[in-house]
Amino acid sequence: MAYETRETKNISPVAPDIAPALLHWYDNNARALPWRVGPESQSRPRRASEQPDPYRVWLSEIMLQQTTVATVTPRYAEFLKRWPSVEAMASAPVDDILGQWAGLGYYARARNLHKCAVAITRDYGGNFPDTEKELRKLPGIGDYTAAAIAAIAFGKPAVVVDGNIERVVSRLFAIETPLPASKAEIKMRAGDIWPQKRGGDFAQSLMDLGASVCKPRAPLCNACPVSSACAACATGRMESFPKKAQKKPRPMRAGAVFALKNRKGDMLFERRPDKGLLGGMLGLPGAPWVEKHDDNPLAHAPVRARWVRAGAVTHIFTHFHLTLDVYVANGPKGFRRGADQLWIAQKDAQLPTVMKKAVELASNDKGDG
Ligand code: ADE
Repeated sequence: MAYETRETKNISPVAPDIAPALLHWYDNNARALPWRVGPESQSRPRRASEQPDPYRVWLSEIMLQQTTVATVTPRYAEFLKRWPSVEAMASAPVDDILGQWAGLGYYARARNLHKCAVAITRDYGGNFPDTEKELRKLPGIGDYTAAAIAAIAFGKPAVVVDGNIERVVSRLFAIETPLPASKAEIKMRAGDIWPQKRGGDFAQSLMDLGASVCKPRAPLCNACPVSSACAACATGRMESFPKKAQKKPRPMRAGAVFALKNRKGDMLFERRPDKGLLGGMLGLPGAPWVEKHDDNPLAHAPVRARWVRAGAVTHIFTHFHLTLDVYVANGPKGFRRGADQLWIAQKDAQLPTVMKKAVELASNDKGDG
């Protein structure tokens, strides 16, 4: 009779018990990040006063989606100062949150931040639910964020897999399937090593290991507490994991923006439509972003004027590469702004990064109107 192993049943083999070593490493090496409370001691559970605040954990996780710890850290402090509680955020106008979000990437996340704060305040009495299932029902909270909050804020053994953890697990088990097809396998392997206690510390120990030791390039295996259990390290092929499917090049898009200045030196802005990229943010009036270069961009100018091309700016979004031609003019006599347009001093405008680049270029150009 064939001997049935976990392998033949398509269940992963029992993984080495690496959690104690990683948690011990985390106790001594955890990064001090403003949304964290220190590691729970091995010998003593956290006191009530030392529990992480779910609002802070949630806020940090939303801000950290696709944005680095270095970028988020100062911005997180500003958010917390302005909105110290979920109720405070819920009662703020969504425009304030969008403004504060400027430069942090996709604005849908800022909109959902507000929607979620409202839902928690209105439907949950201001308390975040503590299960992945309930958390996933909330705006802006997907599988990853639900697991991260359940683990970090509530200590649940929820399996959290972000980019750093993906890399560490891929290496530990030398997973040959390329990303993104390997995601399910990575999650299963991570589940095999996940401890029942200190789920949040374990998640963050993997994040920190990925950030400081198990780095994408030149990992520091000598400093790794679990290198002896690592299949990639055993063969010296650390950098070849995680395997990645060939990326298609980002498609190109092109558009134009028009920087109209008035006598005071203010610029004409308009609010972008709520739906779509940079939804609800301020921007310069402009031509649509299209795949083919528009032969007559001036047809989209907000007014006939002596437009001068100041140059072009580029910006890389997740799904495409954008080039914006920037035109500058001084407001022609008698120009009246439209109802959805406003004159703003450049320093006061809360702008998404791509628009900041365009405004900067336009400000260095005198226009000739
Ligand atoms: N990235 C996402 N969540 C994080 C956390 N809690 N600590 C460090 N990096 C993170």
